[in-house]
Amino acid sequence: SSSLSPYSASSLQPLWSDDECADVNWDKIGFSIVPTDYMYVMKCSRDDKFSSGRLNPYGNIELNPASGVLNYGQGVFEGLKAYRKRDGCGFLLFRPVENAIRMQMGADRMCMPSPSADQFIDAMKETVLANRRWVPPQGKGSLYIRPLLIGSGAVLGLAPAPEYTFLVYASPVGNYFKAREGFAPINLLIEDAIHRATPGGTGCVKTITNYAPVLKAQLLAKSNGFTDVLYIDPVNKKYLEEASACNIFIVKGKAISTPITRGTILPGITRGSIIAIARDSGYLVEERLVTIDDLIEADEVFCTGTAVVVSPVGSVTYHGKRFEYKTGADTVSQRLYKSLTDIQMGLAEDTKGWTVEV
Ligand code: COI
Repeated sequence: SSSLSPYSASSLQPLWSDDECADVNWDKIGFSIVPTDYMYVMKCSRDDKFSSGRLNPYGNIELNPASGVLNYGQGVFEGLKAYRKRDGCGFLLFRPVENAIRMQMGADRMCMPSPSADQFIDAMKETVLANRRWVPPQGKGSLYIRPLLIGSGAVLGLAPAPEYTFLVYASPVGNYFKAREGFAPINLLIEDAIHRATPGGTGCVKTITNYAPVLKAQLLAKSNGFTDVLYIDPVNKKYLEEASACNIFIVKGKAISTPITRGTILPGITRGSIIAIARDSGYLVEERLVTIDDLIEADEVFCTGTAVVVSPVGSVTYHGKRFEYKTGADTVSQRLYKSLTDIQMGLAEDTKGWTVEV
């Protein structure tokens, strides 16, 4: 099939109306940017509300050099996925209302106006439909949607920007950790010098400023053969927080624990979904303070996130000592992964009303 867009940019009418997928080697996709056809853009001024957005061809954007986001990091983002339904009739979004609400909370923390939940969900639907040929065939991955909200107006002194842009782009993705290590379990390094978040900071919202500061720790860990870094609390240096791009869970017997979100941990949507699914499946799930000792003594460890889904942790290294965990077929993380992704792909009944049809 052609690599040209099926839409004419002026009318946004599809030039062909099949549900064909783009010419991509779907078995090879990992988690890197694949340019798609369209992005959704909506702007508003500081004291206003967002009103209407539009689809533009995907590409570079123009920003004032003095924009709030470039100078002072005034920005938040989200991540969610659309799956192609098995019968080929349409797509499923997973819990987009949760992303809309989290973006509103983050926007409030960063002094930005934000789209309403309806505007947010409409933008997700429009972005999926305009890029439908980039949604992988079922079982090969998903269309990762990245909504951004940025202070696009110019400010010189430190202040909220006068103008905001809500921008949504999308890219087909497969396994987050696949590029390096196939479906093998991930190996985490506990970091106790670099912290991801501090009390009173922005760790509990998805600001762009939470991510670049951990690159240093992440690169160092990767250069020593680890997959990612697990951060601990900056005050007591003893409680688990989260990894660079995902939340963490430990399993001990029939009990599952995950660090309680007290302002420094991102309340992940996959985290919340796994808590609910695990409780429904009969596990005792606790959100509590989880210590490094609890982690060391666990039977099983796994990470959750929109990008990583549910990723088993094979080992954790702390102060030079490596601790290993159960992985493979008959594990709690494997069962939870299947229950979650079956709902996301429309293969299991969605009793909680989590999926939204596009
Ligand atoms: C996601 O899981 O959607 C995220 O936003 C994490 C990101 C670092 C890939």
